[in-house]
Amino acid sequence: MRREILAANWKMNHTNASGVAMIKELAPLVKDAKAEVVVCAPYLMLTDLIEAARGTNIGIGAENIYFEDKGAFTGEVSAPMLKEIGVEYVIIGHSERRQYFNETDETVNKKVHKAFEYGFTPIVCVGESLEQRDYGVTNDLVRYQTKIALFGLDAEQVKKVVIAYEPVWAIGTGRTATSEQAEEVCKAIRDCIAELYGQAVADEVRVQYGGSMKPSNAEELLAQPNIDGGLIGGASLVADDFSKLIR
Ligand code: 13P
Repeated sequence: MRREILAANWKMNHTNASGVAMIKELAPLVKDAKAEVVVCAPYLMLTDLIEAARGTNIGIGAENIYFEDKGAFTGEVSAPMLKEIGVEYVIIGHSERRQYFNETDETVNKKVHKAFEYGFTPIVCVGESLEQRDYGVTNDLVRYQTKIALFGLDAEQVKKVVIAYEPVWAIGTGRTATSEQAEEVCKAIRDCIAELYGQAVADEVRVQYGGSMKPSNAEELLAQPNIDGGLIGGASLVADDFSKLIR
């Protein structure tokens, strides 16, 4: 019922040249993919990537967005700027932005609203640190993050949100959550949405897993009933790995 969505998060890797080369290499390898294929990249290269991906089934996304349309916000990039060049997706609230760039649940919520105002598909990241997992508050925390991220959205908007569950301890560490751990939290996220918006809405929301996902573990993770895709860092940087994972 839910179409799987596999999204690359290139983070601060690749340059325009290597990014464009990778899109060109990736396109023929994933042209028959059943899943929705997305590549999220730094602002600077989005125009070039959109051009390179034209006519393919690869959608292009930004890794962040600002919640004001314009003004004195040195260094920020706005939704209208991204809309004009043809961006379709935006990652919001990645744990690296929460950790290093003062992203809060409140700014995540503002950005989600801005994303909808301009017709982007938001990919909203939630997830716990190892310390929080050890304290036994993982599900409480992701519910808290999810509720604030979605605050004020209507049911039609919520259906279009993609939630990425990314345990911080699994990001870039090679330590993947077990499929049982990932499924448990992805189900908790869906249950939380069902409490707020009803089961029918929750059943349409796509919940991704992210954190050291790679070709060798993707199949088992994606076979879980509440995992509808992945947000992939390291294994998305090379066309061969990313296309294997997608296939
Ligand atoms: P890795 O796949 O490199 O662990 O990164 C996951 C991630 O943070 C995707 O947003």
